[in-house]
Amino acid sequence: MDFSKVEKIKEQAARDILEAKTTSSLKEIFNRYLGKKGIVAKQFFYLKKMPQPKRSEFGKQLNELKKSIEKRIKEKSRIIEGKDSREKRKIHKIDVSIPSKKPQLGHIHPLTKIIRETQDAFVGMGFSVEEGPEIETEHYNFSSLNFPVDHPSRDAHDTFYLKKDTILRTHTSPVQVRYMEKHNPPFRIIVPGRVFRHEATDSSHEIQFYQLEGLMVGKDISLANLKGVLEEAIKRVFGKKTVFRWRPGYFPFVEPGVEIDIACPICGGKGCSTCKNTGWIEVLGAGMVHPNVFKAAGYNPKNWQGFAFGFGIDRLAMIKYRISDIRMFYLSDMRFLSQF
Ligand code: DAH
Repeated sequence: MDFSKVEKIKEQAARDILEAKTTSSLKEIFNRYLGKKGIVAKQFFYLKKMPQPKRSEFGKQLNELKKSIEKRIKEKSRIIEGKDSREKRKIHKIDVSIPSKKPQLGHIHPLTKIIRETQDAFVGMGFSVEEGPEIETEHYNFSSLNFPVDHPSRDAHDTFYLKKDTILRTHTSPVQVRYMEKHNPPFRIIVPGRVFRHEATDSSHEIQFYQLEGLMVGKDISLANLKGVLEEAIKRVFGKKTVFRWRPGYFPFVEPGVEIDIACPICGGKGCSTCKNTGWIEVLGAGMVHPNVFKAAGYNPKNWQGFAFGFGIDRLAMIKYRISDIRMFYLSDMRFLSQF
């Protein structure tokens, strides 16, 4: 047996392996050299017929040949596989210019929307936004606001009592006194917030709803200022052509008190189910701050004047978005909410 043959096989195999470009051609090379009937196996066949000591020497060489071919194939296969996955990556390369799937966006709740709009209207006129507690005392909710003890107006608010003297606020007006106790005039504030009434619900009554309170206090503040500020704010929410009607109204914490209607934006004042055929919709209560309220807050009523007002936020949203049932706001029904 010619020993140089082993060397030749080794070289040829090395060349073949070097040239192999795919996993399948490498497999084919493996079979050709190391398969059962392959080139190396053939040499083992000759080995058996060899006399000693040549036989052990040749056997050693063949084993080394086998190992070296195996090693080269393994190395090459690693290279090819690496390349393959690089190729694969090329095919599946992420194209960052393709528009992505649109995530499902949430919606602004209609009440949040109208609160923001109304707030913006007042902030644009120099008002700042304040807050107060939803759990109130009878003192702030009623007494400090000049509701006489045992006066039926307390009942009219259908109060939720948590315990004696502690209630869920029935309106945002108590924040007027809380704010005045801590601040000196002049100032202008608005107070959006949730209020609660213990009453039967129907399409225009809920046990919880939202109000937006306002208070402006300073020197020589008059009813004319109240009219100017409120009509401007309402026009910013409902449009420049809004028509107003002012009526006297009673609230214990203001004197004089007024109620402000706007011509029904749905029928234009002709009369429809929303305005109950009157052509008018009441949008807020307001008035000049009662001296007793200033006193309760520690102000001298001789030194200061002010006006206060309170919107029903749900009401505004119902008019603006033409929603016929106030309860829709609190049902978390996606069919309703996704319209906004
Ligand atoms: N707090 C009143 C209510 O809940 C609304 C209101 C009326 C607020 C007149 C005011 C006001 O500040 O001046 O019905």
